[in-house]
Amino acid sequence: MTDMDTAPLDAAQVLTWFHRHGRHDLPWQQDATPYRVWVSEIMLQQTQVSTVIPYFQRFMQRFPFIQALAAAPIDEVLHLWTGLGYYARARNLHKTAQLVCAQPGGEFPRSLEALEELPGIGRSTAGAILSLSMNKRGVILDGNVKRVLCRYYAIQQWSGDNQTQKTLWALAEKSTPDHQFANYTQAMMDLGATICTRSKPGCACCPLKENCRALALNLVNKLPVSKPRKTLPIKPVVMLLCRNNSQQVLLEQRPSNGIWGGLWSLPEFADLGALHAWADANTVRLEQAWPVTRHTFSHFHLDITPVPALLAERGVAEPTAGLCWYPLDHSVNVGLAAPVKKLLQRLTVYMQDAP
Ligand code: ADE
Repeated sequence: MTDMDTAPLDAAQVLTWFHRHGRHDLPWQQDATPYRVWVSEIMLQQTQVSTVIPYFQRFMQRFPFIQALAAAPIDEVLHLWTGLGYYARARNLHKTAQLVCAQPGGEFPRSLEALEELPGIGRSTAGAILSLSMNKRGVILDGNVKRVLCRYYAIQQWSGDNQTQKTLWALAEKSTPDHQFANYTQAMMDLGATICTRSKPGCACCPLKENCRALALNLVNKLPVSKPRKTLPIKPVVMLLCRNNSQQVLLEQRPSNGIWGGLWSLPEFADLGALHAWADANTVRLEQAWPVTRHTFSHFHLDITPVPALLAERGVAEPTAGLCWYPLDHSVNVGLAAPVKKLLQRLTVYMQDAP
């Protein structure tokens, strides 16, 4: 059975559910003009309803009409946006207001094609503006609707790839009824936001539970499929394991920002050449490097080449600020990065065989 063979989503059931359980008091649902719906839809991209509400209210107080927005300095728009994030949205809003107001009549466009031409308005936002503010047949496919459709039709591919995107748009088109466009759009958003949630969905209360394929196949918690992991970039680094004759190893404190912020770590060098130069200047005798060991972060692999070394007499005996001699019996409590802890354990074993 393919996704297209599933019983089509029953818009009537969704609408009945919406009348009883949907959200009807959101600020942009009162006086739902294209301007107000447009601003709310842009604010709601990547941002939760509860966060958006006070921003929307302040924005409407200051810019009640598109002309007021178009005439304002961008700094004032950005000021009202402070804290909402993704500031390109505010810039696009301002640019679009100026484009619309520069047209003869200064009216907000009323067709899908004209809406989609405006900065910051994609296909789904254009569909939402058409349906919510003009009660025209606008089809939407925002994050909430994608989740509902991926589950209802048991789509088992990542929704971001081109083919799946096409499939989902076709299903969204097919599911949209020929009447009650505003209600249906809001109903699907509400269903996704309140019942068909990413975690702990309320399937028992869902108006689509009878024919939901993910529910039938016990796949609700597996869908939608998350984005495939990218191959991570590799960052090579040389780490120095320099011991002295008192069973101590040289550590360096990491800067407070960035990875392992503020933790103590092994001194790092970009490559073996840089390490050799430092070792010569500090009378440190380098030994055979150990094999590369990999530590993986969410966004890159750190490929560590550990190089053991022995301090020749004086050298770095009195380390400067940001460096310390750390006792290998761990009798001093400091925050150590996880792979550093492992390397120190290996150094202890290594030292039993080395002088
Ligand atoms: N997310 C995007 N548009 C929305 C709307 N109109 N209501 C609630 N959440 C939304």
